[in-house]
Amino acid sequence: MALEFKGDAICLSGLSGTRLKCDIIGKYYRFWWNITSGGKAQDYKFPTGIIDLHAATGEVYIVDTGETVLGSAGHVIELKATDPNTEHLKAILVEENRECYDHLKNVIRRRWLRLHLKNIILILQSFQEAYIYLM
Ligand SMILES: C[S@@+](CC[C@H](N)C(=O)[O-])C[C@H]1O[C@@H](n2cnc3c(N)ncnc32)[C@H](O)[C@@H]1O
Repeated sequence: MALEFKGDAICLSGLSGTRLKCDIIGKYYRFWWNITSGGKAQDYKFPTGIIDLHAATGEVYIVDTGETVLGSAGHVIELKATDPNTEHLKAILVEENRECYDHLKNVIRRRWLRLHLKNIILILQSFQEAYIYLM
C-alpha cells in the first residue's frame, strides 16, 4: 500500500491507537533516559541510545482527528532539543522508504535545525540488505 503524507507528516489511522502510542512513547523516552543516563545524581553522564528502525518522518498526521503530532523519531529529537542534559543520548533513526526519509529531513530542518544537537544519526536503509555498521 502506498504511503500517504500530509505536509511532511505520515498519515496513520487513529483508530489503531496511534495518537495514544505517540503520547506514551514521548513520555516513556523521557522517563527511560532520566534513569539510564544516571539522572541528576550522576550528572546524566552515562551514554544511552534510542534506535528507531521505522523512524518514518518524525511527524504523524492522525487521519481521523485531522491533527499532526510528533511520531517516535520526533519525540527522540524533541527530548534532545528540550533537555540540555541529553548530549550523551544518541538517536539513531533508520528508515527504508526514501519519501519518509526525505520528509524526516524536512521536519528536522523545520523544527530543530537552529539548535546544535549532537548525536543524531539518520540512516536510509533497506531491511532486505544486510550490513555491518561500524560507527
Ligand atoms: C508504522 S509507522 C511508524 C512510525 C514511527 N515509528 C512512529 O511510531 O511514530 C510508519 C513506518 O512503517 C513503514 N510502513 C510500511 N508500510 C506502511 C504502510 N502501509 N503504512 C504506513 N507505514 C508503513 C514506513 O516506512 C515507516 O517506517
